[in-house]
Amino acid sequence: MGIRMAVLASGRGSNLLAIMDSIAAGKIDGEIAVVLSDKAEAKALEHAKNAGIPAYHVNPKAYEQKADYEAELLKLIKEADCQLICLAGYMRILSPYFIGNAPCPVMNIHPALLPSFPGLHGQRQALEYGVKVAGCTVHFVDEGMDSGAIILQKTVPVMDDDTEDTLSARILVQEHQAYSEAIQLFAQGRLEVCGRMVKVKGE
Ligand code: GRF
Repeated sequence: MGIRMAVLASGRGSNLLAIMDSIAAGKIDGEIAVVLSDKAEAKALEHAKNAGIPAYHVNPKAYEQKADYEAELLKLIKEADCQLICLAGYMRILSPYFIGNAPCPVMNIHPALLPSFPGLHGQRQALEYGVKVAGCTVHFVDEGMDSGAIILQKTVPVMDDDTEDTLSARILVQEHQAYSEAIQLFAQGRLEVCGRMVKVKGE
């Protein structure tokens, strides 16, 4: 059976597709119960609908308060009976209200090696800083910006002739791998959070 997940996405949806592929390949014991987006035109919604997954655009502009918008997200997540919320290119910061009222843990994928380069354009920040190793981070979401406990990280080399696009593409391959691995560890009940440390049981 496995876990039921909600995926929140704002755009392209390649991480969503990677999660869907991992489920189909038997690499994640679970299913995506609902996909939610703040953008009507998000490709992620299309990917979900094509796969027969319930997918909804929830328009933040239709709500007076951020909490009302987030309450609608939480309602849909609870109705879908989810055990994990995955942010996959969801471009809004979730408020303490959402985090405090979420019925289950929230995970995010960030395209940099946290705690370096949080926020927008992690790959560009890494390139501009001149690091030699870049990568991605899967972490639990807390009330801060990209500051929750780290579940796993994958690295890639930075080449002298890299552009933001070439580095982003190299990192994205690792993102797709890392997110599925982290979700499967969660689905297997192998993640144990001890303060800032996430220990992987059975390793
Ligand atoms: C990814 O780089 C992810 O790390 C970041 O936003 C991007 C989303 O890409 N949070 P996609 O929509 O999953 O293709």
